[in-house]
Amino acid sequence: MDRRRFLSLAGVGAAGSAMALPGLTWPPLQERRYPLRRLQSVAGDGLTLTAGVSTADFGPGRAEAWTLNGEFPAPTIRIRRGERTRILLQNELPEPTILHWHGLDVPEAADGHPRLAVGPGESYRYDFTVSDRAGLYWYHPHTHERTAPQTYKGMAGLLVVEDETDTSLSLPAGEFEIPLILQDKRTGGGAPLRYAASMGPDMMMGYLGDTPFANGVAHATVDVRRGLYRLRVLNASNARIFDLALSTGASLTLVGSDGGLLERPTRLRRIMLGTGERVDLLADFSNLQPGDRVLLRSLEFRVPGMMGMGMGGRGMGGRGMGRGGMMGGMAGVPPQGAPMDLLEFVMTDEPAEPPSPIPETLSSIPTPRIDADTPRREFRFESMMMSHTINGRAFAMDRIDLRVPLGQTEVWTIVNTSRLPHPVHVHVGQFRVLSRTGGRGRIMPWEAGLKDTVLVFPDERVEIAVRFDEHPGLFLLHCHNLEHEDMGMMLNFQVE
Ligand code: C2O
Ligand code: CU
Ligand code: CU
Repeated sequence: MDRRRFLSLAGVGAAGSAMALPGLTWPPLQERRYPLRRLQSVAGDGLTLTAGVSTADFGPGRAEAWTLNGEFPAPTIRIRRGERTRILLQNELPEPTILHWHGLDVPEAADGHPRLAVGPGESYRYDFTVSDRAGLYWYHPHTHERTAPQTYKGMAGLLVVEDETDTSLSLPAGEFEIPLILQDKRTGGGAPLRYAASMGPDMMMGYLGDTPFANGVAHATVDVRRGLYRLRVLNASNARIFDLALSTGASLTLVGSDGGLLERPTRLRRIMLGTGERVDLLADFSNLQPGDRVLLRSLEFRVPGMMGMGMGGRGMGGRGMGRGGMMGGMAGVPPQGAPMDLLEFVMTDEPAEPPSPIPETLSSIPTPRIDADTPRREFRFESMMMSHTINGRAFAMDRIDLRVPLGQTEVWTIVNTSRLPHPVHVHVGQFRVLSRTGGRGRIMPWEAGLKDTVLVFPDERVEIAVRFDEHPGLFLLHCHNLEHEDMGMMLNFQVE
């Protein structure tokens, strides 16, 4: 490769050397990368998913993993909007499990509430019809107090809903469409899928990793043509927030988020993605040269008001990294906000493909009707030493925390009174973000469309408009930092 070009393109100086940390048994950046797994989708209806213990190839080697159908990440499921979907979960794990279809508006019995978990040797039948808009959704375990380890060990997959609106836009498809599951894993000892959360910082910060994984591959690289790509990105980390950007400094065009396409495309240089959130991005590589390399990276950021910030030096690059004290994270594990290079794109020498223009209108999203009579509720997310609660209470399986009338728009205010970020997720469909006060003080561009998860920083109050139209039953509101969730930052609401 042309080393000079790489350096100038990737801006390697600052963050490129960041991976070369003392004590990490990992090859430093650029020296060794592993081919990205290109995910092929399978039809949802009629699918059997067998949860079991197996091994996974994560690039430099194999590791024990908890998988669905032996695949890591779990199979990518494709569903047409309006299609009836029957899926059988077969549990061959040594413990109970249940799967949840994150972002989909499904009946209570198909939502994967932890009380529905099935034991070893048992199975669970899902039967639902997808009414949700086309978009990138996902699925993962929702087992009581075991969501974090089960998801971490490999049982998360993408779920792509397709419909006519989406296909009629002629966005990049086929080899120009790359679905991406981004995660971080701890690779110490060469067993990256072993979950060993300590009672201290891991339970406060969540289980942060030291190594970026894309589609189950550590330090992944992918050959791409010089053209326009659709990157459909999920942050499936347990706790790590990514601040996505290209190493060239070029902007990305945001076309969709959790609940599908936005109304209009937006060009952005950085996009922050909390755990559970998705973005649909267009990346234009058409004016690069063969052999050029571009990194999709997570930029360094700080969470205003977060505990431990400023104690551990400047993220991964700083000499003080890993000695950030208890709140800075585990030794050798980059703290929240540390930069990370997530995926490398290498331009092939095939002829450049001039990009076709991006449509100016992508979809239309109805505005919720809010007035003085709209019911309001407040949810306070609080974290204290080893406890994470909502309105002062930890999750109880059988307690109904609130009742919400079917078909009623409500305004829910998420208040973060803690010193930690909380990605807040509501089950059974999508909501709209109405406002953010405190902290960043505005609705971020990637929060403009339909959302099922919203990142709430310390001191922020985020108002969302929710409405449950189709499915009565018991559903969940929780933090999608999986350690926080497992420790009880979750509640039950009954739609009736
Ligand atoms: Cu993705 Cu209740 O979770
Ligand atoms: Cu969900
Ligand atoms: Cu949280």
